[in-house]
Amino acid sequence: MAFKLDSVVPWGRNMEEYKLMFQLDDNDMAKKFAGFGDGPASFNYEMIEKNRKIVSFDLIYQFSKEEIEKRIEDVRITVMQQMQENMDNYVWKNIKNLDELEKTRMSAMKKFLSDYEKGKADGRYVFHELPHKLAYEADYFDIGLSSHFLLMYTALGYDFHIASIKEMLRVCKEIRIFPIVDLDANKTDLIKSVIDYFRKDYKVEIVKTEYEFQKGDNKLLIIKK
Ligand SMILES: C[S@@+](CC[C@H](N)C(=O)[O-])C[C@H]1O[C@@H](n2cnc3c(N)ncnc32)[C@H](O)[C@@H]1O
Repeated sequence: MAFKLDSVVPWGRNMEEYKLMFQLDDNDMAKKFAGFGDGPASFNYEMIEKNRKIVSFDLIYQFSKEEIEKRIEDVRITVMQQMQENMDNYVWKNIKNLDELEKTRMSAMKKFLSDYEKGKADGRYVFHELPHKLAYEADYFDIGLSSHFLLMYTALGYDFHIASIKEMLRVCKEIRIFPIVDLDANKTDLIKSVIDYFRKDYKVEIVKTEYEFQKGDNKLLIIKK
């Protein structure tokens, strides 16, 4: 069945948030990155502005700029309404209120949209669906990131997660996944069994982060070869 843009809620974060979520220091920032499920985040745009190396992979990159822009506009009001109804589930520290949240997200997504066509032509935004094989050799990237995608959408299932993370670990020397909770900020059995699977053959670390927006989403998973 063809993938429909209507099934995605595009909602992008910025580089400052990525740096905090993934604990990226200056040494890390000089490395070669792959972003899995980066969607309309401005991480790629902001990295390239600073001459850093990054390729983002996402299902939504099969669509045109206009289609993604329209979908962002269509979901904006609904997402903001849901945020208002669930304000108590969030930590209003880095982002102080709903107004600031909307401005931060829209500014990140505008940056992404302004860069999308050029980035696609340059091979920085690549239409790819995990867990399919990526067109990169083993260990091509130093660090692979997944923000608010893997482990969060537990409905994708155990086999999807094992196959996707295996493929990420084929092309990346290490991967970092944030957060390690599902959409309701719960640590599920699926998350636990996926992590246990990779403990057998990889170095697995769980690190507490300063970044916490949804209450309880303050842990980062690092899997290294
Ligand atoms: C909630 S968004 C997160 C966007 C961005 N990482 C951020 O934190 O701002 C999740 C993204 O995962 C992408 N996605 C979902 N399933 C995917 C798959 N099988 N392969 C690649 N990307 C996928 C969606 O298209 C969407 O852009």
